[in-house]
Amino acid sequence: MWCLELLLTLLLIINDASSQWNVWVPRDISAMTNSCVVIPCTFMYPSGIRPYRGIHGIWYFGQPYPQLFPPVVFKSRTDVVHESYKGRTKLLGDLHQRNCTLLINNIGTEHSGRYYFRADLGGANMYTYPDFAELKVLDQPNIDVPEEIVSDENLELTCYAPDNCPDMTPEIQWMYTDYLPDPEFSSDYLEESNTAVLSSTLTFVPRPMHNGQLLGCRVYYPNTTLVYERLISLDIKYAPRSVWVNVSSEVMEGSSVMLHCEVDSNPPSRISWMFGDQELLWDTASNISLSLDDVTPAQEGIYTCVGDNGYGMMNTSLYLAVKYPPREPLVNNSMTVQEGTSLALHCSTQGSPAPTLTWLKDGELVGTITADELSVLEIMEITPQGDGQYRCLAENEHGRASSSLNITVEYAPVLLEESKCTVVREGVQCVCMATGNPEPTIEFYLPDLNITINETDGRYNFYTHTDGHTSTGMIKLREKGERVDNGGPAVNVHCSIYNMYGRESVLLELQQEKKYMMAVIVGTIGGVAVIAFIIAAVRYVGHNNKKENGNPRQDVVLENPALYYSAVKKDKQNLRKKVLKTELLGSKFNSILEETTGEDGDYQPVGSMAGLERQELNYAALEFIGARSREGASGRGDDGSNYTEIKAK
Ligand SMILES: *[C@@H]1O[C@H](CO)[C@@H](O)[C@H](O)[C@H]1NC(C)=O
Ligand SMILES: *[C@@H]1O[C@H](CO)[C@@H](O)[C@H](O)[C@H]1NC(C)=O
Ligand SMILES: *[C@@H]1O[C@H](CO)[C@@H](O)[C@H](O)[C@H]1NC(C)=O
Ligand SMILES: *[C@@H]1O[C@H](CO)[C@@H](O)[C@H](O)[C@H]1NC(C)=O
Ligand SMILES: *[C@@H]1O[C@H](CO)[C@@H](O)[C@H](O)[C@H]1NC(C)=O
Ligand SMILES: *[C@@H]1O[C@H](CO)[C@@H](O)[C@H](O)[C@H]1NC(C)=O
Ligand SMILES: *[C@@H]1O[C@H](CO)[C@@H](O)[C@H](O)[C@H]1NC(C)=O
Ligand SMILES: *[C@@H]1O[C@H](CO)[C@@H](O)[C@H](O)[C@H]1NC(C)=O
Ligand SMILES: *[C@@H]1O[C@H](CO)[C@@H](O)[C@H](O)[C@H]1NC(C)=O
Repeated sequence: MWCLELLLTLLLIINDASSQWNVWVPRDISAMTNSCVVIPCTFMYPSGIRPYRGIHGIWYFGQPYPQLFPPVVFKSRTDVVHESYKGRTKLLGDLHQRNCTLLINNIGTEHSGRYYFRADLGGANMYTYPDFAELKVLDQPNIDVPEEIVSDENLELTCYAPDNCPDMTPEIQWMYTDYLPDPEFSSDYLEESNTAVLSSTLTFVPRPMHNGQLLGCRVYYPNTTLVYERLISLDIKYAPRSVWVNVSSEVMEGSSVMLHCEVDSNPPSRISWMFGDQELLWDTASNISLSLDDVTPAQEGIYTCVGDNGYGMMNTSLYLAVKYPPREPLVNNSMTVQEGTSLALHCSTQGSPAPTLTWLKDGELVGTITADELSVLEIMEITPQGDGQYRCLAENEHGRASSSLNITVEYAPVLLEESKCTVVREGVQCVCMATGNPEPTIEFYLPDLNITINETDGRYNFYTHTDGHTSTGMIKLREKGERVDNGGPAVNVHCSIYNMYGRESVLLELQQEKKYMMAVIVGTIGGVAVIAFIIAAVRYVGHNNKKENGNPRQDVVLENPALYYSAVKKDKQNLRKKVLKTELLGSKFNSILEETTGEDGDYQPVGSMAGLERQELNYAALEFIGARSREGASGRGDDGSNYTEIKAK
């Protein structure tokens, strides 16, 4: 039921509308400058109105209200039109057919705007329709560009040309399409509310390289000079397609470096410099520079520049190497070891480039040169010669550094070849030299008398001296005055050397001075009681030698012109002091020996030399110049400081 009512009502409205004031014009219409436009128009007026003296019409521009005096575009009653429309307008429609179609020729952009039609049916029956046609006069064609153009995605660009001028038909051309990959073109013709638009669509797949390139659309009317062009610059969004960074480089510690990163993307990327997980710097730009000052080795590593603009991300890395001279090497602490111990000395350092490590012992190369981080010097069963300063030297092209440690080797005493007994005018002088660490203690033992001498006890001159690891002990046994034959009782002097690591006891060899030497001494000094001893060329006193040559009687037999021995007499009243300087083996230590008389009859004479017998106590100074130490440790400045006096009580 109500359906029928609705239908009836609609019919009434339509019927009513057809007989009311009504106009049909296109809401929007466009035209190119200097061309023409036809605004299609039809109108209605109430059926009750009887037009008086025909039907007239007026086209207004801009305003519908005559009282505001809008520019008259066209007026059918008179030819009076606004200046800007003079000679340009013509009514194509037949007003009696209610056709108000208007032609405007040679239009310019100033003619853009709203056009109102006013019907004039005579008398008071004049009416301006509120509906208007809005004219757009274009001096360039329109191009539809998507809001966002993304690289590698299909792109459609459409160019429009209005076709509302009956005498002229536009054509569309795309410009600057030569560089496009496989462009496709398609045309379309759109008619809507009696207006027409020609369009041409360009389809292609843009690439990052096309960003910023120009494209153009040209609209022209053949057989006229009218040409319209529109240029657009392509804004193609693309993910970073290159991230440029410096090549990997080297810098010296403490210097400054600038790392540059440039990202090609559209829009510009958020660029950041990463060091490991750490973001050091970022900016939204096309490039950023990371500046590192006072570079430390900790800053060596991989630096990555990341570009991210929302369309994608990309990164590129470089390696920054920080060069520096070797650091002071780490070595073991100084140590004291026992002979025979095996050791491994470690040396490690850092440096860039990796330093070479060299072990030096007392300035001499030991071991091999290595380029590892760690150098291990293995010392198998260290000998006393292993004692010394071990230095680890680290070197690279930027510098060197070293650290050292001292190894002290402790070992059992070793008897030195200088140890021997020598016949001197007043008796026999025995020297015993030994090295050892700790320095050995020296004792003499007279097996014939079953006496051990380790200190000056009032009967024997006993002298000891220690220089580094070398100990020297000396005793002098004085002749008693009894002449003895060569075949008489021998002087047997044992030297005992010991420290915490061992003890050794050897029979000292008795050496006879060469004849001419004695003659020289005797001749020169004459009757002066001089204790002279000159040690002959050094021979190694091995155990075998000692066994073979240990019997002093053989020496006496072979070489002795005047060998005698006597125990010293205990007579303190007859002191006579004499000073003697003797060079002994180039050594240079001074000593003063003050000899006391020994007990009577302690020793049996083993040889004699008439006239040399002396009952007095003698005083002797010995000078050893440049003591030859096995260790080479004793300095030449030792003289004086080791001066020792042993005086009789
Ligand atoms: C109005 O007149 C124009 C020009 O003569 C014509 O092209 C058009 O078809 C007419 N419109 C109607 C609705 O008859
Ligand atoms: C342009 O003029 C030529 C002759 O001058 C004619 O052949 C051609 O059809 C015309 N083109 C248009 C679109 O009017
Ligand atoms: C990195 O490149 C920039 C620009 O080319 C340059 O100025 C800078 O010195 C370079 N830095 C290094 C460490 O090479
Ligand atoms: C680096 O970026 C700045 C702006 O952030 C710009 O002025 C400069 O030209 C760029 N340099 C290079 C080499 O692209
Ligand atoms: C750099 O890019 C690679 C892949 O191309 C990715 O695996 C890596 O995580 C990126 N590095 C950074 C720091 O973004
Ligand atoms: C030297 O030091 C290293 C490590 O610091 C150690 O392994 C080695 O045993 C040490 N060597 C000696 C002889 O102490
Ligand atoms: C090693 O000994 C020398 C002298 O013998 C000394 O100058 C140096 O300081 C010592 N070095 C160490 C590490 O103890
Ligand atoms: C040597 O003297 C010591 C005492 O000083 C004595 O014990 C020892 O028996 C003596 N030896 C000989 C062989 O007389
Ligand atoms: C000498 O030896 C005795 C007995 O062995 C000892 O008591 C004394 O301390 C020693 N003297 C020296 C100076 O070493």
